[in-house]
Amino acid sequence: MSVLDATPGGDLQALENELLEAIGAAGDLNALEKVRIAALGKKGRISLLMKSLGTMAPEERKAFGQTVNGLKQRVSDALSARKDHLDAAELAGRLATEQVDISLAVRPGPLREGRIHPVSQVMDEINEIFADLGFSVAEGPDIESDYNNFTALNIPLEHPARQEHDTFYFNEKADGSRRVLRTHMSPVQIRTMLQEKPPLRIIAPGRVYRGDSDQTHTPMFHQVEGLVIDTETHMGHLKWVLEEFCKAIFEVDIVKMRFRASHFPFTEPSMEVDIGYTMVGNEMRIGEGDDWLEILGCGMVHPNVLRNVNLDPEIYQGFAFGVGIDRIAMLKYGMPDLRAFFAADLRWLKHYGFLPLDVPTLAGGLSR
Ligand code: DAH
Repeated sequence: MSVLDATPGGDLQALENELLEAIGAAGDLNALEKVRIAALGKKGRISLLMKSLGTMAPEERKAFGQTVNGLKQRVSDALSARKDHLDAAELAGRLATEQVDISLAVRPGPLREGRIHPVSQVMDEINEIFADLGFSVAEGPDIESDYNNFTALNIPLEHPARQEHDTFYFNEKADGSRRVLRTHMSPVQIRTMLQEKPPLRIIAPGRVYRGDSDQTHTPMFHQVEGLVIDTETHMGHLKWVLEEFCKAIFEVDIVKMRFRASHFPFTEPSMEVDIGYTMVGNEMRIGEGDDWLEILGCGMVHPNVLRNVNLDPEIYQGFAFGVGIDRIAMLKYGMPDLRAFFAADLRWLKHYGFLPLDVPTLAGGLSR
């Protein structure tokens, strides 16, 4: 049909029927948009009718114009009604297919899939135990000055302990000073005593580095350093704190402990502590039996160390200790090879790791 044939009441009625039918038949918003363009778009059939008005005589134009306007209005109304209908249908369809089935099992999420590394867990356990004894946590950097790591701790340049530590040194600076990857957590003692006034009661857990690698040694491992400084601190306090710590960490009521005389440059006297254990089959029973395992070094802080941080040894004394965290984790959770700790093997982590919400507390149980 040519648009120009359109006359009031004649072909216009046919056009309207045709358009309304097409609108009703449009099954989705795309199809509906096509109908709209065919009718009302720039070159749409109704738009062309409107344009043809300009060529008509005034009388004719008035009547025809009214009719076409009526047609345009009805077609527009039909288009928007159909659009509302299709929108609603689409929403209903989405709601029907996107339903959540609350009877399905919970999907494994990060909280169930992820694991806390045993070393992190044991660190949290240690923090929890010492918090209960009134210790706070102190920190220091992994990259230390040679002075804090050695000299201030009464380990001068020519001291053999420097060799024993297999130190990773950085290049010498212009002023001759050297930095190191800290070989133990003891430099945090120095930092703490320089920053805070006694009485002091801190632990410092962290990473330490030594060039050493076999089944029980890795180039990076973990220690916790402890330090207590006051005016009347003595070895009895040291012994009690360590006994409480060992009972709590191994979750036993009685721990067999042995304090062996030893030597560290930063303590005098110095001791190493062994705990008794026995093997029952493959299981290691801590705190009983006649075998001994070394777990920490300790002693009374050397007067030279106190002098190095401007504390008067005639007024202040204290004790310090250093515990290998990985060692404790191996013992406590029966993990025989230290290297596996750092292999990033997800199967190992799944087996030995802890759930993120299993936060150790003294009241709730440290390991559960
Ligand atoms: N710093 C020592 C080490 O890494 C461990 C240690 C021993 C720390 C005795 C101490 C201590 O505070 O008193 O080998």
